[in-house]
Amino acid sequence: MEKLVIRGGACLQGEVTISGAKNAAVAIIPAALLVNGKCRIENVPEIQDVLIIRDILDKLGAKVSFEHGVFEVDATDLAYNSAPYELVRKMRASYYLIGAMLGRFHKAEVAMPGGCDLGPRPIDQHQKGFEALGAQTKVVGGVIYAEAEKLVGGNVYLDIVSVGATMNIMLAAVLAEGTTTIENAAREPHIVDLANFLNVMGANIKGAGTDVIKIKGVKSLVGGTYSIIPDQIEAGTFMVAAAATRGNVLIKNVIPKHLESISSKLEEMGVTVEEFDDSVRVSCDKETKLNKIIVKTQPYPGFPTDMQPQIVTLLLMVSGTSTVVENVWEGRFRYVDELKRMGANVRVDGNIAIIEGVEELTGAPLHATDLRAGAAMVIAGLMAKGNTELYELRHIDRGYENLEAKFTALGADIRRVIEVE
Ligand code: EPU
Repeated sequence: MEKLVIRGGACLQGEVTISGAKNAAVAIIPAALLVNGKCRIENVPEIQDVLIIRDILDKLGAKVSFEHGVFEVDATDLAYNSAPYELVRKMRASYYLIGAMLGRFHKAEVAMPGGCDLGPRPIDQHQKGFEALGAQTKVVGGVIYAEAEKLVGGNVYLDIVSVGATMNIMLAAVLAEGTTTIENAAREPHIVDLANFLNVMGANIKGAGTDVIKIKGVKSLVGGTYSIIPDQIEAGTFMVAAAATRGNVLIKNVIPKHLESISSKLEEMGVTVEEFDDSVRVSCDKETKLNKIIVKTQPYPGFPTDMQPQIVTLLLMVSGTSTVVENVWEGRFRYVDELKRMGANVRVDGNIAIIEGVEELTGAPLHATDLRAGAAMVIAGLMAKGNTELYELRHIDRGYENLEAKFTALGADIRRVIEVE
């Protein structure tokens, strides 16, 4: 069994370069199934989720290669096939195969995805979108089936702002006849990135990044080269880690605009955030008394739910009472019980965490409960006295490229150890 052994107390200093965005990559790579010709996708993070998609596309019969951050896919000669269950169930984002395969073959059969357990994860809005394009959908025995004689553009009003449904409907609509309008669409940076990728390949998508997206169907897409945006959440994780260890870190290869909600909460706490063209510097000296705050997660441009465990962790040692309200996922405070084992004082009441700052955290054995909670536990380990042993690293490896190497380069004492049982 692998674990991270984290010795607390280091103050992070230096520079870190952020990788390509996971949540853009996991949609853009399946989108290449819609393209006639070779797609060269650059700045792709080497994380488990991407390796799984590579294997899925390979099993489906696409020509794929992935080396040094460059992912090449040629799905020109692909014939219809159902997605392999054993691989699909390992990641949540495999639902993008439904939109991509429906768009390409007018037919898709994909096992219900796995991924982080954050509470119920319905896909009714995805289904609503596919149905507005003329598809029939059903979920039977854990498998989602979607099929259409032909896809014709339609209007979809999302009842809930959903990143996945917005992107999946875009995938199904790019090759449909006529125009599709998605209202109450999600506005996350990775939605704009998927639209930009598809447009580079010949699609006609307007309005991505606003809450109304219009997709005018085109006859076909052609191959090309595209580079994925930097990962907003990886950048935010290092910003919080810099503040939590009272460090001084230059976080490079970021789009500062994407980080505004995170920067502004850190500044409200008294942390210094300097913005440059494609980097941010986060610093905070030991003497600064940080302020308690209230955080409410919201779809973009609000404070991201994927930064919620990290900000809760930073607040654990801020004196006074801070409040964090989770508005996106029903079950995203499961990790709090782990942090309590380090001496954290947090009470969870429904979707609200009430954090009473403590003077000290102490290292403890912890189990990562999901991807972002795992990253938060690394930060908690750096803040704590003594050693923290972090298990269930598969969650972290799904979504962070070289996490411990990046932290180590900033002066953290983190080692990955194989424990012999
Ligand atoms: N929802 C529905 N019906 C649907 C779809 C979603 O009710 O058909 C609800 C969900 O239950 C949730 C809310 O809508 O309460 C938002 O879900 P959304 O569809 O936006 O989430 P997602 O697309 O499944 C992506 C990210 C998550 C991130 C959320 C919110 C990927 C692969 N995953 O999930 O990322 O938390 O958007 O921003 O893009 C992570 O990276 O750690 C992660 C969990």
